[in-house]
Formats: sequence, structure tokens, C-alpha cells
Amino acid sequence: MSDSSEPRCPFLDPTAGAIHAEAAGLRGQGPAVLVELPGQVRAWSVTRHAVIQALTTDPRVSRDFRRHWPGIGEVPDGWVLGSVAFQDSLVNRYGDEHRRARGRIAPSFLPRRVKPMRPQVQATADRLVAALGALAPGERADLRGALARPLTMTLICDLFGVPEEMRERLGHLIDRALDSSLTEDAALAVQNELYERLGELATYKRARPGADLTTDLLLSDRPGEPPLAEHELVGTLFTMIAAGFETAVNLIASAALLVLTHPEQLAGLRAGRIGWTDVIEETLRVEGPIMYVPLRYALEDIDLGEGVVIAKGDPIMVGFAAAGRDPQEHPDRPDEFDPTRADKGHLAFGHGPHFCVGAPLARLEAEVALSTLFERLPELALAEPGRRPARLPSLIVNGPESVEVVPRPRTGGDRTRE
Ligand code: HEM
Repeated sequence: MSDSSEPRCPFLDPTAGAIHAEAAGLRGQGPAVLVELPGQVRAWSVTRHAVIQALTTDPRVSRDFRRHWPGIGEVPDGWVLGSVAFQDSLVNRYGDEHRRARGRIAPSFLPRRVKPMRPQVQATADRLVAALGALAPGERADLRGALARPLTMTLICDLFGVPEEMRERLGHLIDRALDSSLTEDAALAVQNELYERLGELATYKRARPGADLTTDLLLSDRPGEPPLAEHELVGTLFTMIAAGFETAVNLIASAALLVLTHPEQLAGLRAGRIGWTDVIEETLRVEGPIMYVPLRYALEDIDLGEGVVIAKGDPIMVGFAAAGRDPQEHPDRPDEFDPTRADKGHLAFGHGPHFCVGAPLARLEAEVALSTLFERLPELALAEPGRRPARLPSLIVNGPESVEVVPRPRTGGDRTRE
């Protein structure tokens, strides 16, 4: 926590309006920079590719807030980053506890389990893209709300057996839980309601078990292991449903926006010079859907060089999306979207023991969504080509709030008004 007698440190802007410029400034200042987060919480921001790789594989760094964050008592109730920092699930476990928790869920997302999901993803994409194609000439649609969000939400909710009537509210609450600009009162209300709704989901599935991953979690008692406690079950549902759709939504929305603002790359796709995989990996590099993940904690003093020592117990914010634009890693035009570049390396899915379990699924969803969209609607264009949509007000997720398009050519009358 900060105290008025301490020297000032940069404040991370919770509205994230200029998140890449902010990260670039911090990257230039050192391997880790002490910043102030909302709620007057101080943490080290880490934005360099190599330092992120080192810290995420360092056994002296934990994600267990209960055991390894001495300052936790000073965090305000309803802390806006608490929805992720205090998730009671694999994301905030350390060592063997983490391995056990990950073992319950990760096998369901292995490439061989994900590959057969393609027809299901394709069917949803077909339906959503057909609805976009049926709009009247010149009528606008938001690709985030009309394609990216329902596609990823439908898939993750189907996988976890979330009944239709719970989906909309759950999705809305998860969106709000990742908004870093909320007041503490608003964040607390959102977090409380979210856990209430997830508890209802657990109760519902206990009464109506099915062929879904929530039922698997309920039944996942393993020999020699205690059953999943209710709070961990609910925390895991939050992790999986939130991680499963908020991230992939942003990948699809950002990639669509980048392609629409780079017509030369769309021409390259059509001519077969590049493929959707190139576009997806380059989007992950330049617009990583996860900006920061709160939090990690130093188990002992960690000397990063350049005079920077993260003290034992200090919290750390790892900036995964910042790594992709690190000029040390990508000296050639690090901020520029160029799917033809040879090195599209990124840390968008994390690194080390917490590496994203959903990466194969996210890549599949993005490929199906983008290829279906651009193949079926070749005339797709931005509704306001000169205007850049606002970014989500979040330090955690990164992406455009909307991607307004006209799926079909405007009528002659509309064209003359432009
Ligand atoms: C483009 C889409 C995605 C991105 C960019 C992304 C990014 C990430 C990142 C950066 C982490 C590491 C967090 C850390 O180390 O602090 C992570 C972990 C995780 N992701 Fe993803 N993710 C995506 C999609 C998904 C999907 C579709 C799912 C679920 C189906 C998922 C489930 C998870 C889980 C459960 C973890 C925690 C793993 C652990 O703690 O061991 N993610 N993700």
C-alpha cells in the first residue's frame, strides 16, 4: 500500500486509454517499475519480454495471495483487480497445489480434445455470419457484439453446461468484473453477484448433471485428494468461463479490426501470401488480449539488475501484452501490425507453469471466426474508417470496445454522403 510519505510512483491508468504507450514508458525505465494501482496498491510492473520469461519461471515467484502476500490486509474491499487477483482457482495456486488444480481441468483442453470441437465452432460462426450477411445494405453491426462475443460465449457455456437463461447475466457480470475503472462499491457489488450466480450454476448442475465440464469438476474427486471445496469450484468456474471467452473475444475483435485497417494484408490473405495463422499470431503479438495479470508475489528478494530489487512479499504485475512490443525482442517496427514478418513471437498466452490451458481452443475459435467472416462477407468494411474505437477500460483485458462495420455495401445514396 502507498503512504503519503513515500515517493510518488507512476499510476497505471485504469481506463487503459493509452495502454501501449504507458507500457512503453515503463519498459524504458527498468526491468521492473514500482507503480500504483487503483485502490492505492503498489506493485512492480514488468513489461520486458526477457524479464517476464524469467519471472514467470522463477520458483521464487508465487501466485498464492493467501500464503505469500503480506500486504493483503490493506487491500480495500471491492478492489477492482480483486476479481482476478483473488480468484480461488488454479490461477492463484503455487507449486504442487497448482499442479493438482491444473490437472483437474487442463486435459479437457489438450489439442486432441479441442480438434473435434471445430464443427461446433463452425456451426455457430456460420449462424452468426449469416445474420450479419442478412443485414440491409448500409446497415451497421458491431463485430464484437454480433460475432466475437456470442461465438466464444456460446462455446464456453456449452462446454460447461451453462443453461441458456443464465448466460447473458453471467457474461455481463464477467465483463464488469474486468472493468478496472469501476468504483470499489460497484466492483464489490459485481463480485458478490458474480459469485452468487456461479453458486447457482453449481447448484443447478448438481441437480442436473450432464455431459459437461462443470459436471466433471463436481465429480472430479480423485483418490487421495480431497473433493473440490465449494469456494474452489465456484472460483474455477469463474476462471474458466471468464478466461474462456473474454480473451478470445478480444483476439477476434482485434484481429478483425487490424485486418480491416490494413487492406494490403487482406489482399495478401486473398492471394494466399499469408494465412489466418499469420494474422492470428501477429495479432497476439501486437494486441495481446491479456495486458496485465494481477498478481504474483516475491518469495524472497529478487535482484533484476540495473539497481532494481523486488523485495520479498512485494506484488508483481506481469504485462504479457507488453512483451510483444518489446523492441529488444522485435527491433523491426515493434508496434506495427505486419503478419508477413518472420518473427511473430509473443507471450500472449503467458509463460511457465501457468501457461494458458486454452491456447489451442482460442486459436481454433479465431481461425474459424475470421476465415468465415472474411470469406462469406467479402465487402465487409469499417463503418467509420477514420475512427479508432475506444479500448476496454481494463488493466487486465485488452481490446476494442466495439468494431462497427457495414457488412454489405452501402447503397449509392449512402456512399455519396460519406
Ligand atoms: C486469445 C485467447 C487467450 C489468451 C490471450 C489467454 C491468455 C492467458 C494468459 C496470459 C495466461 C497466463 C496467466 C498467468 O500466467 O498469470 C492464461 C492462463 C489461463 N488461461 Fe488463457 N488465454 C486465452 C484463452 C483461453 C481460453 C479459451 C481458456 C479456456 C478454455 C483459457 C483458460 C486459461 C486458464 C484456465 C489459465 C490458467 C492456467 C494456470 O494458471 O495454470 N484461456 N491465459
